[in-house]
Amino acid sequence: MLIELKNVNFTYMPNTPLAQRALKNVNFSVEVGEFVGLIGPTGSGKSTFVQHLNGLLKPLEGEVLVEGKRMGEEISPFLVRRKVGLVFQFPENQLFEETVSRDVAFGLHNLGWAEDEIEKRVRSVLEMVGLDYCKFKDRSPFTLSGGEMRRVAIAGVLAMNPSCLILDEPASGLDSIGKREILANLERLNKENNLTIILISHDMDEISRLAGRLVVLNEGRIEFDGSPRKVFSLRDDLIKIGLDTPEFTSLLVALKKGGLDVPLDLFELNEVKDAIVSVLKRRGS
Ligand SMILES: Nc1ncnc2c1ncn2[C@@H]1O[C@H](COP(=O)(O)OP(=O)(O)O)[C@@H](O)[C@H]1O
Ligand SMILES: [Mg+2]
Repeated sequence: MLIELKNVNFTYMPNTPLAQRALKNVNFSVEVGEFVGLIGPTGSGKSTFVQHLNGLLKPLEGEVLVEGKRMGEEISPFLVRRKVGLVFQFPENQLFEETVSRDVAFGLHNLGWAEDEIEKRVRSVLEMVGLDYCKFKDRSPFTLSGGEMRRVAIAGVLAMNPSCLILDEPASGLDSIGKREILANLERLNKENNLTIILISHDMDEISRLAGRLVVLNEGRIEFDGSPRKVFSLRDDLIKIGLDTPEFTSLLVALKKGGLDVPLDLFELNEVKDAIVSVLKRRGS
């Protein structure tokens, strides 16, 4: 198991009048190579949850294990932060070096890597996020498009060679091309490099296509945990806690209400089309 949370409870500003319980008895584990989508309404604890996975926050109760080792005892939070890379929302706000390559290399410089090793790694991680090394290495991060800046920020996290990459709304605020490129890169990193990915997203269409597993947080608790098919089949429960369902789910539900006997748990254009065509054919015959 790559990361495990066992009975984790977390409260901001405990023992004060402002105390805010943010995680309640959370049990979770993720295996190498999984692509987990994390969804939940605003304030449900998503950001708090992922900061427990990489050691930025420490549980008030319960424990965090990384590769089977208890964080804080058998493995230091410092090392965990290298193994579990966290890309915050709007990570481009944290770019500050004069060139793209210096920005991506920042963490490696801190680790005291040799220049030629740094150059090799920077080249490889820029290529992982789909940016041509020669074209981008000497550019100022501030002359890039929004999507390119974000990919530079992701490359900086990948430079540390994490076993798990966690991203908080990586596509938010980007135009549709920027969005598609980022998501295609994540899909490739997961499939080709077997990189474990945990993705926070509000976009149910995006997450139902990408993730093999969905975790739903609500008021600090894990409410559901399963395949997108299983989770989105609980449509009414999701709507009750203020979440959307994918567009295709809404379409299929509407068709069913209109009298077409289609399945509801399809998320890909082609399978939706095939299901509708086959129902219509059956009707026609
Ligand atoms: N730094 C903080 N201090 C106090 N309360 C916080 C802090 N960060 C988050 N919270 C509270 O903890 C709860 C969970 O927040 P958060 O993890 O940010 O949720 P999400 O990422 O799902 O929007 C919310 O009630 C939020 O107001
Ligand atoms: Mg958040």
